[in-house]
Amino acid sequence: MRKVTTTALSAMKDRGERIAMVTAYDFTFSHLLDKAGVDVLLVGDSLGMVIQGEETTLGVTLEHMIYHCQAVARGAKRALVVGDMPFGTFQITPDDAVRNASRLLAEGHAHAVKIEGGVSIAPTARRLVEAGIPVMGHIGLTPQSVHQLGGFKAQGRNAEAARALLEDALALEAAGCFSVVLECVPGALAEHITSKLSIPTIGIGAGVECDGQVLVCYDMLGMNDGFKPRFLKTYAGLGESIEGAARAYIEEVRQGLFPAEEHTLNDALDLGEEPTCDEPIPLYGRSG
Ligand code: KIV
Repeated sequence: MRKVTTTALSAMKDRGERIAMVTAYDFTFSHLLDKAGVDVLLVGDSLGMVIQGEETTLGVTLEHMIYHCQAVARGAKRALVVGDMPFGTFQITPDDAVRNASRLLAEGHAHAVKIEGGVSIAPTARRLVEAGIPVMGHIGLTPQSVHQLGGFKAQGRNAEAARALLEDALALEAAGCFSVVLECVPGALAEHITSKLSIPTIGIGAGVECDGQVLVCYDMLGMNDGFKPRFLKTYAGLGESIEGAARAYIEEVRQGLFPAEEHTLNDALDLGEEPTCDEPIPLYGRSG
């Protein structure tokens, strides 16, 4: 199986092949999404909201990111694993950024990092690239700037803001980023930026003309019923399925219907053998 690399993504843009990126935060989701053929697994700092239940991504730490990157990296056999640099880990000095990004690669086993920001952060992106760390940029709605932006709002909606976003994208490309995320910008602007860059753009709420798309896995799978922005399409109703399954389980436990005979280790005990649970489980054994 050929692994997805940063250069493979660039070749995909050249061939006009679209890139499918999804977030993942743990081994099991990573394993399943990788098996499905996702090109890029993003360990997003959105985990602050969907895993930790916070209102923003600002409280996510480098230690959290390393922990989740490790789990995702174990499940990814083919996909490129990109780890988000959390708020405060790359904005202070480029030296800090290199030190912190190195930990995401060395300890978290991510293959690349993502940083939010445009022109102002481009020199830091360049330092990371010079240190051998592949960098994905992220412009438009940058959630780490939520308080400065006045909320989670679409960006680039007038001519001046649109021009600034194009400059941001060009600065990131010139700094050596291998790709850039465009979040919540008008489709026509995303199309224009995509046509001006030689590196792939990955859109979220940015229309179909980006070189690829990204969604938060829990949103894509319909597990986040409080979140229904216009750009989101849900591909499953796992939230309802999980709740339904849990209700059925609770009911059967309460009624004494689970575990049934077939879930019970009576035979082994009748034979005087030690009950064992050591049959290989492919997913956990990672052989599947
Ligand atoms: O943190 C995240 O999941 C992201 C994506 C939504 C692009 O930055």
